[in-house]
Amino acid sequence: MDLRENLKKIEEEAEQLFSRADSLEKLEELRIVFLGKKGKITDVLKQMGKMSPEERPVLGQAANQLKDKLNNLLSARKNELEEILQAKKLEEERIDITLPGTEIITGHLHPLTRITKEIEDIFIGLGFTIEEGPEIETEYNNFEALNVPKYHPARDLQDTFYIDDHYLLRTHTSPVQVRTMARQKPPIRIIAPGRVYRSDDIDASHSPVFYQAEGLVIDKDISFADLKGTIQLFVQSVFGENTRTRFRPSYFPFTEPSAEVDISCVICGGEGCRLCSYTGWLEILGSGMVHPRVLEMAGFDPEEYSGYAFGMGLDRITMLKYGINDIRLLYENDQRFLHQF
Ligand code: DAH
Repeated sequence: MDLRENLKKIEEEAEQLFSRADSLEKLEELRIVFLGKKGKITDVLKQMGKMSPEERPVLGQAANQLKDKLNNLLSARKNELEEILQAKKLEEERIDITLPGTEIITGHLHPLTRITKEIEDIFIGLGFTIEEGPEIETEYNNFEALNVPKYHPARDLQDTFYIDDHYLLRTHTSPVQVRTMARQKPPIRIIAPGRVYRSDDIDASHSPVFYQAEGLVIDKDISFADLKGTIQLFVQSVFGENTRTRFRPSYFPFTEPSAEVDISCVICGGEGCRLCSYTGWLEILGSGMVHPRVLEMAGFDPEEYSGYAFGMGLDRITMLKYGINDIRLLYENDQRFLHQF
């Protein structure tokens, strides 16, 4: 019964190897080794010729039983392996829904652009239109037509970037007043934001490039009260309902009378703190009634028309609104700074 012994050994060996197989590929290899055409059981059957005729059917039956048994073991192990592999896959694919999400970094508006748009919207709501002018201006538009006298210090090389005798980098947005009046008859109601240049050294509150917004209103019967009401409304829209305004007499060549506008301090509300130098007030713009000479130079009769104008520093307003204490932050494009807005 040598061959039956062989079958027994094959059975034991197969049982062991099947249970240890750790992949479907490995299991398939084992199936070929034991049950394949050239496999171990076939090997035994090939040797049946040596046996007596009575013994052959007995061995044949035993071999068939072993085949069935091994097939069953294989498919059982296969199911087991499939389950293990599936569980492993699920574990790998597990999503931890308690993990914080990854921030999607999107582009957004620069704080100066945001303020500019906000201010534009406020004035559009009041019936103003947006105007633009070039950054390279004539000396005439930037100074002459605005009644800035020849000897005025603003005209000095130290303050103004001249390109030649005739052209310069505009030092304020006020020349847009001149351009608008040359093109348009009253009623005029414009707001003109834009970049301006001054030959200043850079520090926490000065930059040779900065932003302003100019306002100009010309019509019949425009009075200082219209200027006050408009500025008051503007200030409350940008800085909040409780912000107070104060008009302080001042001087600008292009307005008469002229006033500087202060708002109650955005930090202390008027109590006095470091930001407002313990005055309770912060200056935010210059304004006044358009000077009759400016109207005349534009070809408007000062007896028939009057108007008001104002000019504000957009950098300063941005800094006050967002609590930024250094103007350089607005121009350095440091992502750590910009991403806060
Ligand atoms: N242009 C002035 C400046 O740059 C600001 C200004 C003051 C503009 C009074 C005006 C105004 O229109 O009426 O300092």
